[in-house]
Amino acid sequence: MAFEDKIKQLLDKRVEAKLGGGQKRIDAQHAKGKLTARERIEILLDEGSFEEFDMFVTHRCSDFDMQNQTFLSDGVITGYGTIDGRLVYVYSQDFTVFGGSLSESFAKKICKVMDQAMKVGAPVIGINDSGGARIQEGVNSLAGYAEIFQRNILASGVVPQISAIFGPCAGGAVYSPALTDFIMMSKENSYMFVTGPKVVKTVTGEDVTDEKLGGAMIHASKSGVTHFVVESENEGLMMIRKLMSYLPSNNLEEAPLAPCVDPIDRLDDSLNNIIPENQNKPYDVKDVIHCIVDEGEFLEVHRHYAANIVVGFARFNGTSVGIVANQPNYMAGVLDINASRKGARFVRFCDAFNIPIVTLVDVPGFLPGTGQEYNGIIVHGAKFLFAYGEATVPKVTVTLRKSYGGAHDVMSCKQLRGDINYAWPSAEIAVMGASGATEVLYGRQLKDITNADEKAKFIADKETEYNEKFANPYNAAKYGYIDDIIEPRNTRFRIIRALQALATKKDQNPMKKHSNIPL
Ligand code: HXC
Repeated sequence: MAFEDKIKQLLDKRVEAKLGGGQKRIDAQHAKGKLTARERIEILLDEGSFEEFDMFVTHRCSDFDMQNQTFLSDGVITGYGTIDGRLVYVYSQDFTVFGGSLSESFAKKICKVMDQAMKVGAPVIGINDSGGARIQEGVNSLAGYAEIFQRNILASGVVPQISAIFGPCAGGAVYSPALTDFIMMSKENSYMFVTGPKVVKTVTGEDVTDEKLGGAMIHASKSGVTHFVVESENEGLMMIRKLMSYLPSNNLEEAPLAPCVDPIDRLDDSLNNIIPENQNKPYDVKDVIHCIVDEGEFLEVHRHYAANIVVGFARFNGTSVGIVANQPNYMAGVLDINASRKGARFVRFCDAFNIPIVTLVDVPGFLPGTGQEYNGIIVHGAKFLFAYGEATVPKVTVTLRKSYGGAHDVMSCKQLRGDINYAWPSAEIAVMGASGATEVLYGRQLKDITNADEKAKFIADKETEYNEKFANPYNAAKYGYIDDIIEPRNTRFRIIRALQALATKKDQNPMKKHSNIPL
C-alpha cells in the first residue's frame, strides 16, 4: 500500500471511530437530549487539549455472533487533556455502542487511563452512560468491572476521582462511581440503582419508576449518593471544571492559588447583626459564608441532602478551603445521622487532599430519639468526630452561636486538634442549653413547687442564671479552648490571618496500616 493510502486509511479509520455506533444511534442519543461521549469530552476539556488513547480497540468476543459486530473504540472514549491548563485523565462511555455496556476491552481502556493518572498524579474524570455489564461477554465483563473497582480503591485519597452520570448506571456498575470522591447526576435521563424497577417488582412487588427509584433528585435528597445535580449536561461539565479549580491534582500537592481581588481586610457590618436577639431564632448560615469568602463565591456540595449542615468549597485570599457549617435555618442545625455522614465524608476528602477546613459552628446538639438511636446515630456521629480528629490539615473554627454537648466536641474543637478556634460574642458553649440544664439540675426542687406561676418564675430565674454563667464564649475562653473572641464583621480578615499562619502546618497521625473508622 502506498504511503498516501496508508495515511488515508488512518484518517478513514478515525472518521469511522468517531461515528461510534453509527449516525442513527448518534441521532437517537441527541433526540433524548443527550450529548455523545466525544461531545462531552470536548465541552469538559480545554479546547483542542484532548489526546485520545485506544481509538482502534475492539472487543474480542465471538459469542452471540459478536465477531460480526465490532465498533472502533468499543464503547468508551479514553485519554487525557487539560482543564484550565491542568492535566486530567478522562473516560466517557459511548451509549451508541452496545448501549455503552462494558466489555473486557472497554474495561482495559479505562484501567489504562487510571493507571497512568496514578503514575503522573492527575485526577480521573469518568462520564457514565451505560447499560452495565455487556451481556454477551458474561464473566469477562464482571472481571472488567472488578479491575476498575480495584483501581478506584487504590486511587482513593491519591488523585481526585469525579463521576458524572449522564445516562443509565445500573447493577454493580454503580459501585465504581460510588467509590469515587464526587458524583454528579443530570436531572434528565440519568439514574443509578443496583436493580431496576422490573426486578424490584418481581422481588418485592413494589411498583416504582426509574426516576423514583434512582433519579438524580432521589439520590441528591434522599440517599445522598450524588453530590451534585445539574439541569443539563453542559451545566454539569462546567461544574466539574469549577470543582477542579478548588482541588489539587493529587495528595502530594496543594490546590492552585487563585488570584484574589477581594480585599482581605474587608469588614462586613451586616455580620454584627446577623444573629437574632432571640437565641432560638434561625438565620441562614450561607449568608455568613457568602459575606466572608472571596467574592462571595461558594461551591456547595450535597446541597439537597441533610440541609442541617452545609459543606462546600470556597477561597480565602485565593486559598482553597473546605467549609463545614451548621445550618440554623434547617432543623435548628442539629446533628443527625445524615448530617454526620455528610460532614464526615467532606472533612475526610479535604484532609486527604490538603485542603484546609474552616468550620462555622451553631449547633444545639445531636438529634435525640428512637429514630436516630435505632439507626445508629452513635456510630454515624462517631464518624464525624473521627474525621475531624484524624484530619491533619489546618483547621480554623469560628463558633457563631450555639455549641452544645457532644456536638461541641465534634465540630472541630480545640482538643480534636482544632488549630485556631475563634468565637463571636454571641457564642454559647456549654454541656447543654438552659432549659435542659435547669430541668436536670433542679428537678427535685421543681417537683416540690405546685403553683404554676411560681414554677414558671423559678425556671425563668434559673435559666437566666445559667445563660449568664454558661451561654457565652468567655467561659471557654477562660480555659484557652477559644483562642480569641472576635467581632463578627472582622471574621474574614481573622480567618485569612489564621490560614496564613497555618500555611506551613505539619502534623501527622501515628504509623498504622489504616485506621478503623466506625462505618
Ligand atoms: C449488551 C446492551 C446492554 C448490555 C443495552 N444494550 N444494554 N448490550 N449488554 N448490558 C444494547 C441494546 O441491545 C441496544 O442495542 C442498545 O444497547 C441500546 O439499548 P436500548 O435498550 O435500545 O436503549 P434504551 O431503551 O435507552 O434502554 C437502555 C437500558 C436498557 C435501560 C440501559 O438497554 C437495559 O435495561 N439494558 C440492560 C441493563 C442491565 O440490566 N444491565 C446489566 C446490569 S448488571 P441495539 O443494537 O439495538 O442498538 C451489571 C453488573 C455489573 O451491570 C457487575 C459489576 C460487578
